[in-house]
Amino acid sequence: MSTTRKRLFIKTYGCQMNVYDSERMKDVLTPLGYESTDTPDGADLVILNTCHIREKAAEKVYSELGRLRPLKEDKAASGGMTIAVAGCVAQAEGAEIMKRAPVVDLVVGPQTYHKLPELIAKAHRAKGEALDTEFEVEDKFDRLGNDRQVEGYSAFVTVQEGCDKFCTFCVVPYTRGAEWSRPVDQIVGEVRALAAKGIREVTLLGQNVNAFHGAAPSGREADGPWGLGQLVRHIALIGGIERIRFTTSHPRDMDEDLIQAFADTPKLMPYFHLPVQSGSDKILKAMNRQHEAADYLTTIARLREVRPDIAISGDMIVGFPGETDADFEATMELVREVNYASCFSFKYSKRPGTPGAAMFNQVDEAVKGERLAALQALLDEQQIAFNTSMIGKTLPVLFEKPGRLEGQLHGRSPYLQSVHAHAPAELIGQIAEVEIEGASRNALSGRLIGPKRSAA
Ligand code: 5AD
Ligand code: SF4
Repeated sequence: MSTTRKRLFIKTYGCQMNVYDSERMKDVLTPLGYESTDTPDGADLVILNTCHIREKAAEKVYSELGRLRPLKEDKAASGGMTIAVAGCVAQAEGAEIMKRAPVVDLVVGPQTYHKLPELIAKAHRAKGEALDTEFEVEDKFDRLGNDRQVEGYSAFVTVQEGCDKFCTFCVVPYTRGAEWSRPVDQIVGEVRALAAKGIREVTLLGQNVNAFHGAAPSGREADGPWGLGQLVRHIALIGGIERIRFTTSHPRDMDEDLIQAFADTPKLMPYFHLPVQSGSDKILKAMNRQHEAADYLTTIARLREVRPDIAISGDMIVGFPGETDADFEATMELVREVNYASCFSFKYSKRPGTPGAAMFNQVDEAVKGERLAALQALLDEQQIAFNTSMIGKTLPVLFEKPGRLEGQLHGRSPYLQSVHAHAPAELIGQIAEVEIEGASRNALSGRLIGPKRSAA
């Protein structure tokens, strides 16, 4: 194995699972002598870890490849630059990318990036052959192991991949494949190794994370597969781990045990991402979401009952085919009722191969634009109101790094808000109490009250 030092630049698009995958790609490449740089200029290997969820996200790949071409030409005289496309665009359009963008040397799907070293070697030998978009998720995690390079105090851990829900707007079941959960022992091994490296907060990732049903740990096989609630409680017992989060959940897979985990596990943060996409039952049905608006509201009410300090975030789509003004108003009504701490909202984007793309009653782009603006104005108001409601409260803050001003630290509240406070540098990596004095749309500021040992 060669250990000559080589420069690696990875650009990550899209969701947190891509962030996790990019980190794991670095882990795989480090033993080959690759070191990360923060510019593609002069890099020996450039990886674009791509997202296919909406049209705009997918288009970015081709424009980035255009920008990389002259850099690759410049590097030709000094060892050359290998360009790889990874992630969901690679999965969906692998062969097409190689054809359309000859600057690309290799294409690797989300389930085969553990084979990057082999693919790179292949790309160097014979251009055009280095494409691997098989689905071999079990093999991937076995081969990746637990030795992760980490920075900071918070880490993502994939616990589940893929989705069998087939919402009619979504490419994920096609790009990430069928639902699959990692065994509990394997996840616990990874979290323990992270805790030993100083990680204090883990976010468990899955496209449909609350459908988690991983093999029970050794000795407990008789339990049958464990659900997410059991996994969360088990991870809460790992020394050093102070905060647990998970994302993304589907309303249909909210079971009572997971709701109870919010009640009985203080390390599980009281901030929960539960996308609903629309407030109209007609649209929810057309989206194949398999529940009604009222079911969602009942789940939110139940969560608030067991954990009164819980805050909710979500995702919304406007302009799904067939959405009328009345359907959109039902979405606005649901948003008023839930009162989100934060919510992402998107114009419906036709994705090739999904049932939604073939629906005849597409909504006009201008109408989508108007609806998105109205929804975002309401969501902004809610987010500002939520942040302002923190003023006067004392929140536990996990300090992560120095702040912008001298003597200041930057950290995160239980609700993932950025918090700035004057605090000694030795509190970096620790949870401390901060009395909140100021709030804006995106951040809080406050006064350090004192260190705190508990999670929330
Ligand atoms: N168009 C617009 N938004 C989409 N999302 C997923 N697919 C589409 C699409 N075709 C949004 C959903 C999902 C989030 C990750 O992206 O709101 O929850
Ligand atoms: Fe896509 Fe989520 Fe629906 Fe699965 S549940 S198809 S990932 S939106």
